[in-house]
Amino acid sequence: MNVLVVGSGGREHALVWKISQSNRVDRVFCAPGNAGTESEAENVDIAADDIPALVEFAKQNSIALVVVGPEKPLCDGLVDALDQAGIRAFGPAKNAAELEGSKAFCKNVLRRAAVPTADFNIFQNPEDAERFVSERYEETPENVPLVVKADGLAAGKGVIVCSNRDEVFTAIDQIGRQMQFGKAGRQIVLEERLTGVEASVLAITDGKTIVTLPAAQDHKPAWDGDKGPNTGGMGAYCPTPLVDEKMFHWIEENVLLPTVHTMKRSRTPFHGLLYAGLMVTPQGPKVLEYNVRFGDPECQPLLFRLKSDLFELLMAAAEGNLADVPSLQWDERTAVCVVMASEGYPGAYEKGRVIRGLEEAAKVPDTKVFHAGTRRDAAGIVTAGGRVLGVTAMGNSVANARLQAYKAVKCIRWDGAWCRKDIGDKALGVPSA
Ligand code: AMP
Ligand code: GLY
Repeated sequence: MNVLVVGSGGREHALVWKISQSNRVDRVFCAPGNAGTESEAENVDIAADDIPALVEFAKQNSIALVVVGPEKPLCDGLVDALDQAGIRAFGPAKNAAELEGSKAFCKNVLRRAAVPTADFNIFQNPEDAERFVSERYEETPENVPLVVKADGLAAGKGVIVCSNRDEVFTAIDQIGRQMQFGKAGRQIVLEERLTGVEASVLAITDGKTIVTLPAAQDHKPAWDGDKGPNTGGMGAYCPTPLVDEKMFHWIEENVLLPTVHTMKRSRTPFHGLLYAGLMVTPQGPKVLEYNVRFGDPECQPLLFRLKSDLFELLMAAAEGNLADVPSLQWDERTAVCVVMASEGYPGAYEKGRVIRGLEEAAKVPDTKVFHAGTRRDAAGIVTAGGRVLGVTAMGNSVANARLQAYKAVKCIRWDGAWCRKDIGDKALGVPSA
């Protein structure tokens, strides 16, 4: 069978790598892919959001399953278009992808499903949001622990964590008047600011049954010690001792299942990958957000540990037969993924810098270098994005896995390459689950 993976990041390289290992798969295509996917599959020169061209390609190439990596084509209706053409896809339809596409939609689902989440209010214009803040915090303008969010997709931005009224007003102005995140700011969500540690719990679902994957932890801020601006994610590891077995089951029962059931009852059944971004607070885990696709970079350590056939799993979810899939087999060890980025990321950065040392890195045992922003040109493999590589390694503890990952990182160089030096540190010192 032929498979088409849509996207071009580290997540998509990991998906392509794992899907190609299935005995049931003949050819794997990736649109548009990167230099890493090119070495294990066939890259197709179609952008990830060119829906008509993707549907046409799938028809022409007898694609049995399309696996959609990023959120944008899902929110734009790629799966609906494929469905109309009779092509199976792993990922939610447009109306269910609203869980990520609209924070207001997500909060309302969480409320209906009685899933713990931060208290919130939704506003249609900045004036109403400001009036609410002025009235509620009249006595304590210095202490306004709110998070201001643009409703729509804002490429991981559009969320501003505030401490006082001035910060909240500035954030409302940026989102609702200056429209810094474009039409994503047409509605504004004001949310109670939670404190705790963050974890990601991802589940595969066919709309009825869920298969929950081991908990992972992302590192969103750019610099060591969680300092600096937010990024798409500078590293991840899996499993994380921050979510022990009891909490894992609690999250399945009280977060993931009620959400899937509520989506079904609301006639927006959710198929695909449901990603819960959680804050583990002193009162227990609460949902910060849902994503409707694999996390990047969480996908890399997760799939590196997966022993079962990923294609069978994704196909069963797309066909509605997830209940028939045997329990997943995982490597017992921990996997750590360290993202190597371009100079300047998450701000402006240059592309086209030659990457050296990939062959040496490939020789480090128990390691896999997943490509993200890379492409091949006459000079060799060059940088083509902000997040360039996801160096992923396995070890019998977080400490050993990170040691191995950084050993491979040391082999790789290009002008301006950098990474966080503390990926996985948050797990050290937490008693093992
Ligand atoms: P989101 O895109 O909603 O995950 O938000 C991005 C980041 O903002 C999260 O990873 C958190 O670090 C932070 N954040 C979002 N919502 C809240 C909240 N209610 N309380 C505290 N931090 C938050
Ligand atoms: N790593 C966070 C995300 O994929 O949204």
